[in-house]
Amino acid sequence: MGRSVVNIMFSIVLLGSVVGSMAKAKGTTRVYLTENATAYWTYYYTDLYDWDMKKAGVACASRDAAKPFEWRSKYYWTAFCGSGGPSYPASCGQCLKVTNPTNEASLVVRIVDTCGSGSTDLDEPAFDMIDDGSGKKLGHLTVNYEVVDCDPPPPPPPAGPGETDVIAYWSDYGPLKNNWSYSAAHVACAGYDGGKPLEWRQRYGWTGYCGKVLGPSLRDICGRCLKVTNTLTKDEEIVRIVDSCGAGALELDLNTAFKPIDSDGKGYAAGHLTVDYQVVDCDDDDDVDSPLRLYSQLITGGTTVGLLYFIHFEFLQSLVHQFNTNQGKSLQFKESFIVGKRACAATLSAYPKVDSWDSQGIDCCSWVGVYKLS
Ligand SMILES: *[C@@H]1O[C@H](CO)[C@@H](O)[C@H](O)[C@H]1NC(C)=O
Ligand SMILES: *[C@@H]1O[C@H](CO)[C@@H](O)[C@H](O)[C@H]1NC(C)=O
Repeated sequence: MGRSVVNIMFSIVLLGSVVGSMAKAKGTTRVYLTENATAYWTYYYTDLYDWDMKKAGVACASRDAAKPFEWRSKYYWTAFCGSGGPSYPASCGQCLKVTNPTNEASLVVRIVDTCGSGSTDLDEPAFDMIDDGSGKKLGHLTVNYEVVDCDPPPPPPPAGPGETDVIAYWSDYGPLKNNWSYSAAHVACAGYDGGKPLEWRQRYGWTGYCGKVLGPSLRDICGRCLKVTNTLTKDEEIVRIVDSCGAGALELDLNTAFKPIDSDGKGYAAGHLTVDYQVVDCDDDDDVDSPLRLYSQLITGGTTVGLLYFIHFEFLQSLVHQFNTNQGKSLQFKESFIVGKRACAATLSAYPKVDSWDSQGIDCCSWVGVYKLS
């Protein structure tokens, strides 16, 4: 008897915790969900007023009128006076996902105003977008709504192919010591990515790549990103390929890539890690296929040299020397250069190509990969 009571109580506790965790899981995506609310429509004339909150006379103008145009015009506007959700003025600027269950049409609108009855006053174009035809006839729609994030984080990068249980060695490329300079690190991808902005170069830890999934040419690997997981500790991170390698599948930069996923130190002790990796989207804003703008400016007069990315110092010196001694008349440094990443041949040594430019030659543009802008 006593035992079955305990059992029942135990079951209730268990059931309670299951229900509780379900509610919690649900609560993380839906802050409020209100069913069968009344949505009216109104006229904010956003196109006429160019999304100007003051001209539209909305209550939230005092808070949000000065927000950038992109912010104001990102979503259609609504007034909000529902019970399930934030109240004015905290409601200003928040977003609602409004769904018409009849036709399952939904859209996200931004709260810019208050209202007196029902739950929302949707701007007319928004109302029309979810109206199944009954709304305008009846004077309102019955909708469900929930408060949603106006700026949801981007979805995780789609995972590409990968390998499991492969060896990752480490190499000390020293990006932290050298401002993430590809040329200082003598990495093979210097010709492709060495001139990218610092912000780009330092976005991820570095790795050399000699796995089986990408490749075999530098063009196939440079700049790509991998999500690397330490199979023992499950530490993971995203790294960028800056180099080729000779053994194992990866050669992780010691400080920016190897140690961060070697939290128990066992990899360092053993000289390598066993990892899984997957090719992922780097989420770079810039178009990785566009030619890389390399050279900014060299001021004439023979003395001042502007910023030259990734062409290394001796090389630069020889050019300046040539320029100063007037031997290189064909070097028109008033112009800009573009280095086409594609022009660096698919060898594993694109960087030495830069070295190979014959600074004694007359034709500065004979170096494969350099184009003169005309
Ligand atoms: C909303 O309306 C539907 C259809 O009339 C009904 O089945 C449901 O129970 C209602 N929900 C609430 C929370 O009142
Ligand atoms: C790195 O950049 C900083 C600031 O631009 C500069 O002061 C420093 O000398 C650079 N270090 C190296 C090794 O190039």
